[in-house]
Amino acid sequence: MQINYPSRFEVYGAVKFYELIRVYSLFAVGYQRSGFYSLPTFRDLEDIASTTAIVIPVRDEDLFALEGVLRAIPIYSPVIIVSASSRSPINIHNMEIDIARSIYKTTGRTIVVIHQKDPLLGEILGESIPDILDNDNTVRYGKGEGLLLGILVADGLRASNIGFIDADNYVPGAVLEYTMIYYTVLGMSETRYKMVRIAWGYKAWGIGEFYLRRLGRASGIVNTVLNKILSSRRNIETDIVKTSNSGEHAMSMDLARELVYGGGYSVETQELVTILENCYIDISEGNCPSLPENIEIYQVETRNPHVHAEKGEKHIANMVVDSLSAIYYSKLANDRNKELIVNALRELGYEGEPTPPRRYRYPRLHGKKILDTLIGESKLSVSFGL
Ligand code: GDD
Ligand code: MG
Repeated sequence: MQINYPSRFEVYGAVKFYELIRVYSLFAVGYQRSGFYSLPTFRDLEDIASTTAIVIPVRDEDLFALEGVLRAIPIYSPVIIVSASSRSPINIHNMEIDIARSIYKTTGRTIVVIHQKDPLLGEILGESIPDILDNDNTVRYGKGEGLLLGILVADGLRASNIGFIDADNYVPGAVLEYTMIYYTVLGMSETRYKMVRIAWGYKAWGIGEFYLRRLGRASGIVNTVLNKILSSRRNIETDIVKTSNSGEHAMSMDLARELVYGGGYSVETQELVTILENCYIDISEGNCPSLPENIEIYQVETRNPHVHAEKGEKHIANMVVDSLSAIYYSKLANDRNKELIVNALRELGYEGEPTPPRRYRYPRLHGKKILDTLIGESKLSVSFGL
């Protein structure tokens, strides 16, 4: 893949926020041109791919889409499926395992499948993150909760980087592009604390007229709020944030271990909020892990349109509420910003303050032990190719 070198970034404390990068060629290993970047050799591509674990959160998605996603991720990368899918009346989780097994049989690649509602996970995490437990002592449902579990497993696999890809992506070619973006940017950046967030160029869905839409409904609102807050803090207007709700993103494990994870759909916004709290707003408090170096945040626009399951306007509104609540209850938001958020919520038909989001600090647990326990003792977790 060839991308342009991001020539401009904005600095917020120790956070370097890069302007949007574009993909110039989908596959161009070894092609170095001034002002552009490609991974230098195929060996570099393989090295970075094999140390980047890809986590797929899934809750009762179309198995057709999940299979396409799995077959699109380059076989060098270990894959972790974090499932919250039903086990009755139909055992969808078992079918997910069957797909993983059949892919393993033809490729030999590493695939780990765990279940979010595994009672063993509740036991393992209950002490260090009690809030993550539901009434039945299993981990709560929620995408953010699922991503946190995926990071623990990636730690167990001793991955250096981690990337996330939703299971309801209907275009496998787009998934391949996401992974190539992860490898290329994580390979380009020489910093220890780095993140790359996907801004899909266009979004499409298939009911009625085929239309490639430029602006996402959730990101449109949440990006604007974040940009307004950053603008008012510096007194310099900015539109740097293009990926507040980037479901597809990747980062170094060093950074992943330092973050706070928001419950449900607040997770992507909460990651940015935590980075900006620790490394910009409260930088003098000594909680910014990268000091004296920077944290780098890259944003890359894709060539493939993003085609995923359409879950309705109410679902989008809930996602926006979750994301805005992560900002509302953060140190980023002063009284004026809070008013801005309440007004944005009102436009969605939501009156008053949002409910506080659930937040989980990444626990200081031993990933390898957790993985071994799950694989050895749980009936709901399986691993192939380990
Ligand atoms: N493990 C797990 N647990 N996975 C879940 C859960 C859960 O409780 N809930 C949802 N997922 C999975 C879905 O199956 C899907 O693969 C992925 O997480 C994203 O969920 P969707 O419900 O498809 O979200 P979306 O498409 O509306 O929103 C996506 O894009 C937004 C930005 O536009 C998500 O990635 C959002 O997080 C993102 O903000
Ligand atoms: Mg989706």
